[in-house]
Amino acid sequence: MSLATRLAALNAARSLLALNLLMPLEAVAYVSSARQRLSDEDLEALLLRARARNHSLGVTGVLLHHDGSFLQYFEGPAEGVRTVYDHIVRSPLHTGLIELLHAPIPQRTFGAWEMGFTRAPRSAFLQLANASWQQQLHAQRQAASRSDGLALLLQFWRTNGGHEEVRPLPGQPNA
Ligand SMILES: Cc1cc2nc3c(=O)[nH]c(=O)nc-3n(C[C@H](O)[C@H](O)[C@H](O)COP(=O)(O)O)c2cc1C
Repeated sequence: MSLATRLAALNAARSLLALNLLMPLEAVAYVSSARQRLSDEDLEALLLRARARNHSLGVTGVLLHHDGSFLQYFEGPAEGVRTVYDHIVRSPLHTGLIELLHAPIPQRTFGAWEMGFTRAPRSAFLQLANASWQQQLHAQRQAASRSDGLALLLQFWRTNGGHEEVRPLPGQPNA
């Protein structure tokens, strides 16, 4: 590798680092209840709109559904997370939103998903909704640390998620 190429690579790495430092990541998790029964088509339309906005704002995450209850986790640049959260809070499709987590995060957990979706059985849904989502203060400094809730969600997603879309989307990578 020539000196010029090495310098170019070093500069690119520096710019990326600067960008990352300038754009701290945030995450939100919440549970809510559908106002009325949503058909597969309703869910599909919701996901389509959500994914388009999330894509444009660099937001990633997953949405779980059980019998009219939602559990959603999303992450991204603070500004994008705020905009998406505004839309979610104002959505007439659900009510009774309870925030489980809203905090800075050291890295993404669902970076490959603009908004993954799966249905969850009652037991898994309750376990996730009742888990501890707040990060321990001392753990926040460890780059790879995840709260119990987030670790459980990732484990659930790796075993159950990504296989069941409202209608399968081609070419979606796994978490
Ligand atoms: C359970 C649930 C999850 C949602 N997730 C997202 C999301 O990830 N990104 C997003 O931009 N909007 C999300 N929304 C909001 C809706 O996509 C949409 O914004 C809302 O229904 C109103 O449409 P509008 O904001 O485009 O006018 C969600 C809504 C619900 C009920």
